[in-house]
Amino acid sequence: MAAPDTAKKKLFIKTWGCQMNVYDSKRMADILSPLGYQETDSPDQADMMILNTCHIREKATDKVFSELGRLREHKEEREKVGGKVMIAVAGCVAQAEGDFILERAPYVDMVFGPQTYHELPEMVLKANGNERVINTDFPAVSKFDLLPDEHKSQGVSAFLSIQEGCDKFCTFCVVPYTRGAEYSRTAAEILHEARRLIENGAKEITLLGQNVNAFHGEGPDGKVWGLGRLIRTLADMDGLERIRYTTSHPRDMDDDLIAAHGEVAKLMPFLHLPVQSGSDKILKAMNRKHTADDYRAVIEKLRAARPDIAFSSDFIIGFPGETDQDFEDSLQLVRDVRYASCYSFKYSARPGTPAANMQNLVHDRIASERLIRFQQLINEQQIAFNQSCVGKTLGILFDRKGKKDGQLLGRSPYNQSVHAFAKDRLMNHIVEVEITGGFENSLTGEVLKI
Ligand code: 5AD
Ligand code: SF4
Repeated sequence: MAAPDTAKKKLFIKTWGCQMNVYDSKRMADILSPLGYQETDSPDQADMMILNTCHIREKATDKVFSELGRLREHKEEREKVGGKVMIAVAGCVAQAEGDFILERAPYVDMVFGPQTYHELPEMVLKANGNERVINTDFPAVSKFDLLPDEHKSQGVSAFLSIQEGCDKFCTFCVVPYTRGAEYSRTAAEILHEARRLIENGAKEITLLGQNVNAFHGEGPDGKVWGLGRLIRTLADMDGLERIRYTTSHPRDMDDDLIAAHGEVAKLMPFLHLPVQSGSDKILKAMNRKHTADDYRAVIEKLRAARPDIAFSSDFIIGFPGETDQDFEDSLQLVRDVRYASCYSFKYSARPGTPAANMQNLVHDRIASERLIRFQQLINEQQIAFNQSCVGKTLGILFDRKGKKDGQLLGRSPYNQSVHAFAKDRLMNHIVEVEITGGFENSLTGEVLKI
């Protein structure tokens, strides 16, 4: 019997932004697979093209429109020779600017936000009938209840979304508006999905959420579980060897979660804990609801629980009202914590957020100069941390081929990229590697036993 026509359709998804978006893109592919869509790396042959967008920092919308311009050419070329090509804009830019996108880009067929992509089959049906679709509601029923149970293999290192949205309302941030209110999945759902991922080859699971350590999902016992409890339960699963979670808020690092870092060997000794600023005045203006010393205290507690733990963070440079002294306070916090790696961003006003109305803006030239100084310090710390690993033996989870022939690339417990010459059969295994070189963005090592 001839394969149905639908089996030939190709799906191209381009993903920007955080790991939540990476997870959402994978789930979109899972939903579209029964409709006959197979993923492709190139838009050239695609029958459906989805841009999964991020709105967190500046120029997000410009980037989307410039990419749409390219996709439009593919669509028009393909449609000249017959057939239909659909273009969809998904994610947080779609959520925030859906109407504007449909108005400015008449060739876009579907616009939907992060909370409605489980309705893709209905949307595709409508768009096939030449109806333009916009779907940016926050539905009463969570998408997680409606997503298919089928998961394509994510490989040895998998993402699992456990929590979504945010009620913290930091004054610079669009997330509470684009992703909606904080919501935790139930522990039963999460454990089920973890089992499926492990059956499909996952040895490492990264638990995801905009505010992952605010997780408060219902447990099988009817009680509310925190993240520490969830991690302890996941750690009992055979086949799972590594657990990570991201992104966390300092205020939600409760004692049980901190204790889990000392007690659960499978929980990796690396934590991304954004602080945004080292100045109490700026932290207040950001509505972070903690001081720089509160953050230092959390770091200290985590180090007491797990002495080899390493940290990364996000900082915003040039937030309205940031003086030279406030900036120095951020540098001082970095010196005190000694990060393994760190992200820093020049502040950009996001429309609709409270900070966008603040008057005391930092001149762009000053913000740029501060950003350069800040990144110099961060780079020094990152190299120092990577070099401190030289001579140590670390378990490396090899998950891809390296650039050089015969090399594999993997991740250390501290999430560093590690290159080593290794037999292909070591792919997807955690292997003892002696670290021989530490550089700005990666390590090199030698496999100890084969
Ligand atoms: N300007 C600059 N950086 C921002 N971030 C979030 N919103 C803004 C903004 N308006 C940064 C924060 C956050 C990271 C994901 O992006 O540091 O932790
Ligand atoms: Fe945005 Fe703040 Fe929520 Fe993080 S905690 S997602 S920065 S509002």
